[in-house]
Amino acid sequence: MTAPLLSNSDVPHPPGWMDAHWMAFSANREFKAQPRMIASAEGCYYTTADGRRLFDGLSGLWCTGLGHARKEIVEAVSRQVATLDYSPAFQFGHPLSFELANRIVDKMPAGLNRVFYTGSGSESADTALKMARAYWRAKGQASKTRLIGRAKGYHGVNFGGISVGGIAGNRKTFGQGVEADHLPHTQPPNGSFHKGMPPAEGPHGAALADELLQLIALHDASNIAAVIVEPFSGSAGVVIPPVGYLQRLRDICTAHNILLIFDEVITGFGRTGQWTGSAAFGVVPDMLTGAKQVTNGVQPLGIVVAKQEIYDTFMEQGGPGYMLEFPHGYTYSAHPVACAAGLASLDLLERDSALQRVRELSPVFETAVHSLRTAKHVADIRNYGLAAGITVAPAPGEPAKRPYQIAMDMVRKGYYVRYGGDTIQLAPPFISTEAEIQSLIAALGDSFNATA
Ligand SMILES: Cc1ncc(COP(=O)(O)O)c(C=O)c1O
Repeated sequence: MTAPLLSNSDVPHPPGWMDAHWMAFSANREFKAQPRMIASAEGCYYTTADGRRLFDGLSGLWCTGLGHARKEIVEAVSRQVATLDYSPAFQFGHPLSFELANRIVDKMPAGLNRVFYTGSGSESADTALKMARAYWRAKGQASKTRLIGRAKGYHGVNFGGISVGGIAGNRKTFGQGVEADHLPHTQPPNGSFHKGMPPAEGPHGAALADELLQLIALHDASNIAAVIVEPFSGSAGVVIPPVGYLQRLRDICTAHNILLIFDEVITGFGRTGQWTGSAAFGVVPDMLTGAKQVTNGVQPLGIVVAKQEIYDTFMEQGGPGYMLEFPHGYTYSAHPVACAAGLASLDLLERDSALQRVRELSPVFETAVHSLRTAKHVADIRNYGLAAGITVAPAPGEPAKRPYQIAMDMVRKGYYVRYGGDTIQLAPPFISTEAEIQSLIAALGDSFNATA
C-alpha cells in the first residue's frame, strides 16, 4: 500500500510526533507509516481525522454495544467527575460501587452474588485465578494450586492470564509464566461452517470436555485449583462450544471439587442475547469475570463475581475483623467514575431492551455472515449472538497477511472490523440496523473477493 489510508495532515504536527506512543497490540511501524486516526464517535460510527465515517463492526473492542456517545452515560460520567472524581479503593467506600454490585448481581446466574472490582478484563482474569488459589488455601487445601485453561483461550495479557491462555503469539515471547495445563480447543476443522453451537457428537463435540479427566488423572484433583474458559472464545476468532460441552466441564469440576471460572469479558452483558454466556448456554460457573460492556467501554472497569460460599470462606478464615481477608486489589478497583458509567450502561441496556434487540438481530446477522461462505479465501465461519469469526485461508507462508489486507480494504470502504491471527472478527453494535448489518457483510464479501 502506498498512500496513507487516513491522513491527519490537516493537523500540523512536526515530523516524529507519533514516535513517543508505543501502541498496544498494534503494528507500530505500519500504523505510524499509514495512520488511521479516529477523531470522534457517535452511535455506530466513528469519524476519522480526515472526516470520513467508519461503521463500528466490532463495537470498539467488543465493548460498545450500545453505541458511542450515549447521552445518558456521558451525563452520568460528567456528573460523577464533578462530584467524586476519585475515592480510595482500599478501606474506604462510596455508594455507587455497592449500588452497581447489587445491579450486577441481579443479572448474574443464581448463587453468584459477590462482586470484586478490577480495572480491566486482564485484571479480572488474574484476580479470579488468585481468588481460586487463596480459596482452597483458606479451606485447608493449599496443594490445590494448578490452573487449567484451554487452547485458543484468551484471558488478557497479565502473567496469570497468558499462562492459562492458549494463543501462542501472546505467550511465546514472555518466558516462564504460572504453571498451567490446557484443554484442547473446540474449534471444528475449516469448512465446517456451523451455525451457532456445533453438535454434541463427533470428534469436535462435547466429549472434548473429557480431556479434563486426563489432566485430573495426571495431576490429581487435590492439586488442581480451577478450570478457566470463555463460554465462547472471542479473540481466537469466535469459537463456539459444542452442545453439552460446558455442562460436561461443569459436571467434572463438581465431581472433582475443582472451581469452574467463566471468563465473560466478551460474552457478558448482552453479546449473546442474554446477560451472561452462562445464561445463554445454561451452565453456572463458580466465578465469572466481566469487563468491556459493563460500562459500554466508556470507562475501564472489570469484575469478578463469585458465589457466596467463596466469599464466606474468605470471611470465616479472615482472622480478626480489622484484618483484610484477600490481600488483592487495584488503585482503580471500584473507581467512582467507572461505577457511574456502569450504572448508566445497565440502565440503557435495560431501557432499550438491548438483549431483546440482540436476539432479534442475531438470526439476520447469522444468515448474512454465512452468505460469505462462497467468497474467496473464506475457510470457515462461526457465529453466536452478535459475534462471528471468519477463518481466512492463508497466503503461502503468511497466515496473518490476508486478514490484515481485508481489514484495511474495509477501512477504505468505511467499515472497521478486527483482524487477528488468521481470522476476521465481527461484533456489530446491538443498536445496528438490519440494513447496516447487510451492508457490512456485503462490503466484507467484496473485500474478500478483491484480495489476492
Ligand atoms: C475473554 C477475555 N478475557 C480477558 C480479556 C482482557 O481484557 P482487557 O483487554 O480489558 O484487559 C479479553 C479482552 O479481549 C477477553 O476477551
